[in-house]
Amino acid sequence: MCGIVGYAGPGSPSTRPLDVTLDGLARLEYRGYDSAGIAVVGPEGLSSVKRSGKLANLRASLEETPLPAATAAVGHTRWATHGAPTDVNAHPHLSADGKLAVIHNGIIENFAQLKRELVDLGTEFTSETDTEVVAHLLARTYDEVHDLTDAMLAVARRLEGAFTLLAVHADQPGTVVGARRNSPLVVGLGDGENFLGSDVAAFISGTREAMEIDQDQVVTITAGSVRVIDADGREVEGRRFTVDWDADAAVKDGFDTFMDKEIHDQPKAVADTLLGRHDDDGDLVLDELRVDESVLRTVDKIIVVACGTAAYAGHVAKYAVEHWCRIPVEVELAHEFRYRDPVVNVRTLVVAISQSGETMDTIMAIRHAREQGAKVLAIVNTHGSTIARESDAVLYTHAGPEVAVASTKAFLAQITACYLVGLYLSQLRGYKYVDEVAGYLDELGKLPAKIQDILDREGEIKAVAEAMKDTSSVLFLGRHVGYPVALEGALKLKELAYIHAEGFAAGELKHGPIALIEPGQPVFVVVPTPRRPTLHNKVVSNIQEIRARGARTFVIAEEGDEAVTEYADVVFRVPQTPTLMMPLVTVVPLQIFACALAGAKGLDVDQPRNLAKSVTVE
Ligand code: F6R
Repeated sequence: MCGIVGYAGPGSPSTRPLDVTLDGLARLEYRGYDSAGIAVVGPEGLSSVKRSGKLANLRASLEETPLPAATAAVGHTRWATHGAPTDVNAHPHLSADGKLAVIHNGIIENFAQLKRELVDLGTEFTSETDTEVVAHLLARTYDEVHDLTDAMLAVARRLEGAFTLLAVHADQPGTVVGARRNSPLVVGLGDGENFLGSDVAAFISGTREAMEIDQDQVVTITAGSVRVIDADGREVEGRRFTVDWDADAAVKDGFDTFMDKEIHDQPKAVADTLLGRHDDDGDLVLDELRVDESVLRTVDKIIVVACGTAAYAGHVAKYAVEHWCRIPVEVELAHEFRYRDPVVNVRTLVVAISQSGETMDTIMAIRHAREQGAKVLAIVNTHGSTIARESDAVLYTHAGPEVAVASTKAFLAQITACYLVGLYLSQLRGYKYVDEVAGYLDELGKLPAKIQDILDREGEIKAVAEAMKDTSSVLFLGRHVGYPVALEGALKLKELAYIHAEGFAAGELKHGPIALIEPGQPVFVVVPTPRRPTLHNKVVSNIQEIRARGARTFVIAEEGDEAVTEYADVVFRVPQTPTLMMPLVTVVPLQIFACALAGAKGLDVDQPRNLAKSVTVE
C-alpha cells in the first residue's frame, strides 16, 4: 500500500529528478491511488505539490505550475489509512519551515502520543495523518543534529508500527534518506544516480541493479553513493541483486488494460514457473528449496498461510498435496493464523503464498510460525521482498510483474508452484505416486497450450459478459478443486465489477444457499471432468437442481462432456485436463468474464475502487 519513490541525481539541477519520480509513481500507482504528491530539492530549496485522486491530477497540476529544476526528489502515491483522501492529507508532509518533506507508507501506531508531545511544544498540525508527526519530529531533530541521516535514525527509534519513510531537506539538496520497519524499501543502483522505491518497479526504467534494505536500517543516497546503517548506527552492506525483468514487462503491450494483458500472459507465466525445474529424466530439481531434505522428509503437517486470491491457490494445493504426499494440509487466512494459537511445531512446514511478498498479514503469520519452530517455505513472485527474505526457503513464481491490482497470472503461477512443491515432496518422501511424478510434470507442461486455447476463444465469454452488464448478483459453484475456482471467480467479479457475487461448494447448496435461487439468477458452475464420474455426476445433479428453480446456468465444462449440455444456458468448453490441474484452465473463463463485464460497465479494471495491490498494513 502506498507507492514510494526517491531519486538523487547528478549535481547540476535538471528536470530529471521530477521526470524519474513521476515515471516511478506511474509504475507504482497500483499500490494506491487516493492521492499523489512530489517534493524536489535543489538550489531553489524545497518545492512540493500534492493532489487528491489519481496521478493524472498531479500531472495536470504540474503542467500548470511546474516545479523548479532539482537534484533530488521524493514521490508518493497514497492508499489512505489515517485521514480522508484529500489534498491536505496527501503526501509529502512538510515541516513548519517548509525545508523538510517526508513521505510514508505504513501506520505509526504511537502517533497520538507523539502528536500530543509536539502540540505541547507548540507545533501546529495541518493534516489528520500520522505522517505529519514524523515531518515535525524529524525537522526538530534535524535542527539539533544538522544531519538528515542522524535525524532519521533518532526518529525511527521513537516510532512504533510499520513504516517506510523517505525524507529530503533543503539544506542537503542532493540527498534522500530512507528508513524502514515492517514495510518495503529497495535501493536502485544507477550510474551517477541512485533510486529508492517501495519495489523495483519504481526504478526499473533507470536500472536493474538493486539492493535490499533490511528491517530497521536507514539508507542515505546521493548521486554517487549509497550508505546503509543499522539501528545502532553501524555501517552495513546491503544484499545486492539483479532484477530479472525489464521495464517492457510492465507495459500494456497493445492491450487496453494491464488486466487484459496479464490474463493473456498466463500461458507464459505457467511455462516460466515450470522452466528449469526438472531434469531430463523427469525428476524435479528444486535447488532453491534451502530447507534440509531431512526436515522435508519428516514434516507431518503443512499449513498454507495466504490472503485473498493467494489463499485460493493454497486451497487448490491442499487437494493436490494431500493426494500426492498424504501429508495433512491446512489452509489458513494469514490474518487469522496467529490469533487462534495454532498448533505449530518443528515438524510443521508453513507454506506462505504471496504475489507481492509484502502482505503484512502474511509476514506476521510467518514470523509467528518461525517463533514456534516451524520451517517456512515461501511461494513468492517478487524478488527481494520481505516474505522471500524472512522465509527459510523460497520458490519463486516467474509470472513477471503483475500491475493490475486484481491478481490473475500470479494466481496461475502460484498454483503451478504449489504443484511443484507437492510433486517434489512426493518424490522426496517416496510416496506411492512417486513413479507418476514425471507423468504429472508432463501434463503440467501441456497446460500453457491449453490456456492459450481458451484465450483464443475469449470472444465467446466476452459476449456473455457484455450482455450481462446490468446483472446485480452472480453465484459460482464448484466441487473439489472447482470449489476454490468458484471462490476466485466470485472474488474477481466483486473486485472488478462491483457486483454482488458469492462462491459456494456445490455440495453446500442444499444446506442453505439454494434459497437464493430465483428465476433468472445467473449461476456459474465449474464442472469436474466426466472421467471422475462420482464427482462429475454430483455436480451435474446440482446444475439440474438450480435449473429446476429457474437459475440461468453458465457451465464451464470439459470438451466432450455432453452430460451438461441439456441443463446449461451457456456452456464454455475447456480442454481435457487431469482433475487436480483443472483450476489452471477452469479459472481462465471466469477471469475473462469479470474483466469484460467490468469493462462493459465502464469501470477502471486495473485500479478498482478502494483496493491496493500490496496490502502492507494489517
Ligand atoms: C485479489 C488479490 C488479492 C491478493 C491478496 C494477497 O485479486 O489480488 O486478494 O491475492 O491481497 O496478496 P499477495 O499475493 O501479494 O500476498
